[in-house]
Amino acid sequence: MIKAVRGTRDLLPPETALWNLVEDVARDVFRVYGFQEIRTPIFEETQLFARSVGEDTDIVSKEMYTWEDRGRAQSDKGQSLTLRPENTAGVVRAYIEHKLWDRGLNKLFYIGPQFRRERPQKGRYRQFYQIGCEVIGPASAGSESPARDAEVLEMLATFLDRLGITDWTLQLNSVGCANDRVAYNAALRAALEPVAPKMCVDCQRRAVTNPLRVFDCKVPEDQPIIEKLPRISQYLDEACRTHFAEVQAILTAVGVPFVLNDRLVRGLDYYTRTAFEFTHGALGAQNAILGGGRYDGLSESLGGPSAPGIGFAIGEDRLVMSLKESAESVARSPDVYIAPLGAGMNREAGRLARELRRHDAVVELGDETFRLKKSLETASKLGARFALIVGENEVSADSFALKNLASGEQVSVPRAELAGRIQNP
Ligand code: HAM
Repeated sequence: MIKAVRGTRDLLPPETALWNLVEDVARDVFRVYGFQEIRTPIFEETQLFARSVGEDTDIVSKEMYTWEDRGRAQSDKGQSLTLRPENTAGVVRAYIEHKLWDRGLNKLFYIGPQFRRERPQKGRYRQFYQIGCEVIGPASAGSESPARDAEVLEMLATFLDRLGITDWTLQLNSVGCANDRVAYNAALRAALEPVAPKMCVDCQRRAVTNPLRVFDCKVPEDQPIIEKLPRISQYLDEACRTHFAEVQAILTAVGVPFVLNDRLVRGLDYYTRTAFEFTHGALGAQNAILGGGRYDGLSESLGGPSAPGIGFAIGEDRLVMSLKESAESVARSPDVYIAPLGAGMNREAGRLARELRRHDAVVELGDETFRLKKSLETASKLGARFALIVGENEVSADSFALKNLASGEQVSVPRAELAGRIQNP
């Protein structure tokens, strides 16, 4: 038997109703905040991710699905392509490719699959889904303002509240700008030099190539060492400090609670200034429902113009896990089950179903070979509110037996009144 590949899975009904609910609420909320959808390709040139997410990150160094895509000609050297491990790089590529700065401030959202070769476990998949937003544009359009950061964070709080997810924590940090990073990297290198030989091989390498990435280490023995390293908060320059203070002040003014966490550096290289995660207790080890931050230098590093930006991506798999609703309670059960009784009645039942569905009733159709008992049992099993019996007598009277499956009450209803009776019982 061929099964789904390890780390991937099928999403089946009724659970897909929860996914639809989450996506519907996301689209509703994003619309109110002025976001529009962007769809970028699922694969891109490998270089795009190497240059934006960063060579030393776990994502690029270990987790990407990359292949050499060759043409048919023998001489064709081929091109290195990668299934997108995240969507920010693709959005910024599209921003540059389509000169989206002409539109001023771009507020974009996306919903779709991402791919990382991680060790599969609860809440961690190799194909997973993200719902994300990016706000990007020239600084003159306000893209650099702390008001953008606070607005995005407040939108996320609103979105989670709307879904009934209340016990989240917003962890907030500023990872500074290129200026601060020079001084901070020097301090980290100096602090790491004497201790690096005691750390894991990854950290030994990171200590030299990209010391900030040491904070991504999950090896328990390294944690006491990492705990004592200098914190980025001590190295922010005046402009970054002011920007971060203003983000916090607006959040407080609009009533979004947060906790400061100066160990939060996020596992992607493009971040500058504000970095954040929303965590949720019920999720266990993989407790980040979403993460994001600013990436003010990303466009330039991909060959584009200056385009400050901020965004986030929600792990949809994890978000669905933290919902309180059950899938059954969200899926819409049938309003009416139509039971054709006897030869020729499928046609009459079909006509009635068409009429009722035009009135937006959720209709299930049986079959004329079913006995009434079987139809009623099926109707109850499906959770239908009514059964509608369509036999020869009903057709000639043009009035149909409508049975309320909860109360057992059965009445004869003329065709013209059926939709009204079913929709407003
Ligand atoms: P990220 O933190 O790598 O950020 O991913 C965002 C979220 O995706 C995580 O918080 C988590 O919920 C979910 N996620 C990540 N990996 C997996 C996995 N293997 N299985 C299930 N869920 C997963 C980014 O991707 C950035 N592009 C976010 C961003 C947008 N920053 C600025 N703009």
